[in-house]
Amino acid sequence: MKLLLACAAASAALIIAPLAQAQTQTAPAATAAAADARLYNDLGGQPGLTRLVDRFWDDLKADARMAPFFVDVNATQFKARLTEQFCEVSGGPCTYTGADMKTAHAGIDVTRADFNALVEVLQRSMDAQGIGFTVQNRLLARLAPMHRDVVNVR
Ligand code: HEM
Repeated sequence: MKLLLACAAASAALIIAPLAQAQTQTAPAATAAAADARLYNDLGGQPGLTRLVDRFWDDLKADARMAPFFVDVNATQFKARLTEQFCEVSGGPCTYTGADMKTAHAGIDVTRADFNALVEVLQRSMDAQGIGFTVQNRLLARLAPMHRDVVNVR
């Protein structure tokens, strides 16, 4: 079990770095979303995304690296915006109404290591929801390009 978790954690950095690089040379995320609207369904639609984001929030708060970032964050608001965003990027029938990623993270210092750590936590949350590896990677591929706006300490 420990080994499995370690593998999952190690794979986060391995997956996200090449994805982020590949995305710099290919189509923007919106185009990718249009090309694969099935992802929303594969994530379980609205009920699946709500469950995933609930779990993700709990996992973020339980992770020693992530918890400090989220101490003063309003859970209800954050979960609502993140669910909208995951819905939109996975091709679902939602419109993200929150701040753009640069503005949303402007008040905190985020390094590449922080970004990778958050991705690791998200992978654990998806594992816990029984979301398969391929579906996980399709969602991560759509989130990866956001590192350019989220990571602000280089
Ligand atoms: C692909 C990666 C990420 C995505 C998709 C993402 C998405 C979001 C979204 C949708 C919001 C809500 C914005 C709003 O309410 O208008 C948000 C806020 C926030 N994010 Fe991220 N985020 C990412 C990475 C990170 C990382 C790496 C950190 C810190 C290590 C982080 C920390 C925060 C915090 C603290 C807030 C709340 C800001 C506030 O309410 O003032 N995020 N994020």
